[in-house]
Amino acid sequence: MTEQTAVRPFGEIDFAAFNWQIGTNRYTSAQIQELEKDRIWSKVWQIVGRADELPEAGDWKVYTLFDQSYVVVRGRDGVIRGFINACRHRGNILCAEKKGHSGRFTCPYHLWTYGLDGKLIAVARPHPRG
Ligand code: FES
Repeated sequence: MTEQTAVRPFGEIDFAAFNWQIGTNRYTSAQIQELEKDRIWSKVWQIVGRADELPEAGDWKVYTLFDQSYVVVRGRDGVIRGFINACRHRGNILCAEKKGHSGRFTCPYHLWTYGLDGKLIAVARPHPRG
């Protein structure tokens, strides 16, 4: 075992040898924020909330991470699922409010409708103009 990997008793560690300070630029630098977005926050699990925030089937909430919006909803089977908060037709936002209750999600643009499980269940206007 080398000196670096040896486990020392807590009382024998010289904490003065550690630099515990983080420069304030870490909290204000746009470059560091971009690095964190790319290397940390886009790759780790996110805590969206507590399960008891969505007690009933159809309860949903929006979670936003930087410029990405997600809808988290409790399905009829009791399972909580997350989806990108965008219509698969032309990407219009599905849920503009922060939270709500619904039996389905209907895109306000051309009225495509999705079930609580994320499946497309109705296409009201399959070939809209505009
Ligand atoms: S963008 Fe949603 S139905 Fe067209």
